[in-house]
This record gives sequence, structure tokens and C-alpha cells, in this order.
Amino acid sequence: MLSVPFSKTAMKAMIAKTDIRRKRLYIATFGCQMNEYDSIKMIQVLGSEYSITKDPRNADLILVNTCSIREKAEHKLYSLVGRFKEFKLKNPELIIGVGGCVAQQEGERLLKSLPHIDLVFGPQGLYRLPEMIGAVKAGVGPVCATELSGDFAIPFTGVPVLGEGAVRAFVTIMQGCDNFCTYCIVPYVRGREVSRPVGDIFTEAKALVEQGVKEIILLGQNVNSYGKKNGGLGFAGLLKQVAKIPGLLRLRFTTSHPRDLGDDVAECFRDIPNLCKHLHLPVQSGSTRILKRMNRRYTREDYLDRIKTLRDMCPSITFTTDIIAGFPGETDEDFEETMSLLKEVGYEQIFAFKYSPRPFTKAAEFEDQVPEDVKAGRLKAILELQNEISLGRHEQLCGREVEVLVEGQSKTDQAWLAGRTTGNHVVNFPGPMSLIGQLVNVRITKALCHCLCGELV
Ligand code: 5AD
Ligand code: SF4
Repeated sequence: MLSVPFSKTAMKAMIAKTDIRRKRLYIATFGCQMNEYDSIKMIQVLGSEYSITKDPRNADLILVNTCSIREKAEHKLYSLVGRFKEFKLKNPELIIGVGGCVAQQEGERLLKSLPHIDLVFGPQGLYRLPEMIGAVKAGVGPVCATELSGDFAIPFTGVPVLGEGAVRAFVTIMQGCDNFCTYCIVPYVRGREVSRPVGDIFTEAKALVEQGVKEIILLGQNVNSYGKKNGGLGFAGLLKQVAKIPGLLRLRFTTSHPRDLGDDVAECFRDIPNLCKHLHLPVQSGSTRILKRMNRRYTREDYLDRIKTLRDMCPSITFTTDIIAGFPGETDEDFEETMSLLKEVGYEQIFAFKYSPRPFTKAAEFEDQVPEDVKAGRLKAILELQNEISLGRHEQLCGREVEVLVEGQSKTDQAWLAGRTTGNHVVNFPGPMSLIGQLVNVRITKALCHCLCGELV
């Protein structure tokens, strides 16, 4: 969980700006980068009336932005919001809101299971927050905004509100998803795929870079189908245009669907100098049989072909992926195919999860669910194998000089800095804070599974 969606430096700057007469907002964010982005939008639509607090005990408004992708994420919401009940007893004026994917999924049921909350709103309802808060204050009682729209639901809300010192920022380019992978709840809670108007994307990205942001990450559940429905600028065209914003050092995007990532996007890795040479390409399983049951609409061979094309276009490109362990019907042989695919591709990192049955989804109804202990065993084996692979790949960088965009202080040691290579490797090294936001050269001295250590050149 991120208590606030900002870097430490950006947070300090925001808190320093706090006007004590303003109301205090505490915001907790669970889940993916889309949710981090949505939390920033929430702060933005609430405007100058609220300032951020890190302490929920002194908040006037508490917002929890929730995730329902797996059951575990959903449980976190209930325990956190449960704890806020006592604050409400002490301060009856306190307003508590639950937003995001669980709010969308549960709707008014949440008001019954958590009777001390005042607002329930889905990802598309967040721009209605001021109106909803007004209604609660006027004594209307708890309010719920969870209808799904077929249009891009978030109106342009002006220049983003990032604190000073923010080095990277997200820009949403689309909402929702039409893919209906059989395990996934996203199409049900975030609605159909809708692309954001290109003008809004540019205005927002440009404003961020003018505020000092050096790296933009374009966000969408399925970015490769950007603009396909309205036949305008496609995703490759969008990348080329955004990359040209003066002062933008780095551009990234997530998430891609292997079936929709065309040669035009693969060529962008070769042709756009500030497009980072890293691609997150979720494969989910190495078995064609399981991919079919997941409704992914590509085979193991199609996926490996895509990887090959990308490596041909851009030999230095690195890959990361998502894996689901123990999807219904997954046999030992299917699982071994996933293990062999990990070795064949050689990912830098992976995100692996035990399959979790979700409401509304087809796979939750499949009869051949895999026992919990088998899922756990397979997940463990996947993570162990990947640790070896990651370490091996990281060791290849030892002794080499890499370019790092400095993002802030290192989490483990305040005298150290942390940043990323174009290939998305996290690098920690000693250095002065004045380098934050700059591209520096670092010689790698040590490789670990999840990061690298080095020294300034
Ligand atoms: N169970 C486990 N993992 C899931 N993901 C999505 N839905 C589920 C589920 N029901 C994983 C996929 C996806 C990532 C964001 O979350 O790997 O790519
Ligand atoms: Fe979910 Fe599949 Fe859409 Fe990704 S592409 S959000 S996994 S339905």
C-alpha cells in the first residue's frame, strides 16, 4: 500500500506548502499504477480546499482507493477502513470515502458492510467527489457513484498537482479494457475500453514536464489499442508525438497486450531515442492450452515471436512480465512450460501471483480449480527460478557503466540515491541530493536479485 502517491521529496514539498486553515485529506492507495494516478486526480478535483496529511487521525476527509484484482488486495480494504471507525466516533464531522475497483464491484453493498463510510465511488466517479462531499455535508446521508460510462469519464481537470521534486509522473491515455481475459475483473470494474482525447494527454504531459518532471509513464490497461476505436492517431503515433515534448528525458508505457503490440510499436524502441528500452509484456502462462482457457488469444509461439521481433529491432531491450500460478486446469506439464518460458525469455523481473477467483469472471466458474497448496508450491518454484534468472542477468551488468535517472533518496540509506536505468533496473549508489532529476553515469559494483548497487563515474 502507498499511503500517498508521491515521492518522499515531492511529499515534503507538498506538506511544507500546507496552509493550516485548509481541511486535511488523508489518502491511502492500493493496487496498480492506474490507482496511483487516480489518487492524484482525486487530490486535483478536490482543489485548494484540502491539503494532504500523512496522519489519518487528524484528517477531515479520508479516502481509500481500493484494488480488487486479487482477493488479498480486497481484504486489505476491510481491515484498514475498519480501523477508521474509532476516528469517526471521536470526530463525527469526519468524512470517509471508499473509491476504486472494490467500490465499483461492491457498490451500495459496501455501505452496508462498512456502515461508518459516507462515500462509495468507482474509478469513473472520482471527478464527482466535490459534489458528493457537498451532499454528505448537506445531510443527504451516504452517497454512491458507481455507474459506468461508455465515454472517457474523467474530464480534463487542469494542470496536475505534483509536488516539487517529482521526477516521474503517470499520464492516463485510456480507461477500461475489452479483452475479457477469463481470470480478470478489470473489464467489469473499469468498464469498456475508451481512449482519452489526444489533446488532453499532450496538455497534461507538457504541463508535467514544464513543472520539472523528467520521465512520463503512459498508462492504460491495454495501451496498444489506443485510438483503435476512433481511428485517429494510434499508439505508435502517440508515442512519437509525446516523446518530442521539449525537456522530456524519458518515456515509458504500461501495460501492453502481446496480441495487440504491433511492429509499429516495436519499431518505436529502435527509432525513439528517449523511449526507454524496457517492455512489460504480461505472458501469464507458458502453456498454449492454458493461454487459450485464459482467452489471451496468442500462443506460446506467438509470444516468443514477438519477443524475437522486439530483440531484433532493439537488441538492448529488457523484458518484465506477469505470471499467474495455478490457473484452473493447470497441470504439472503446463506449469513446466511456464518455467521453461521464463528461462527462454530471460526476464529481468517478474510479478507472479497465485490464481485468485474473482466475481463476474468466467474462470471463477471453471470446475477444475487447482488446490491452494499446489498453487502456493508452483508460485514458490516460479519465484525461486526467477530470482536465479534475475541475479544472472544483473551480474552481467557488473563492472559496466550505465546511465541512471536519479529519482530520489534510496529507501535503505538516506546518504544514497536511487534511480533507474533505461532497462528499468533499480540502481542504488552514494551521491548528493542535488543530482535528483538528473541523468548520471554509474558503474555497477554489485548485483542483487531485485536491484543493483554502484558508484558515480
Ligand atoms: N488472479 C491472479 N492474478 C491475477 N491478475 C489479474 N487477475 C488475476 C487473478 N484473478 C494478474 C495478472 C495481471 C496482473 C495485473 O494481475 O497477471 O497481468
Ligand atoms: Fe485484465 Fe486481460 Fe484486460 Fe489485462 S488485458 S486488464 S488481464 S482483461
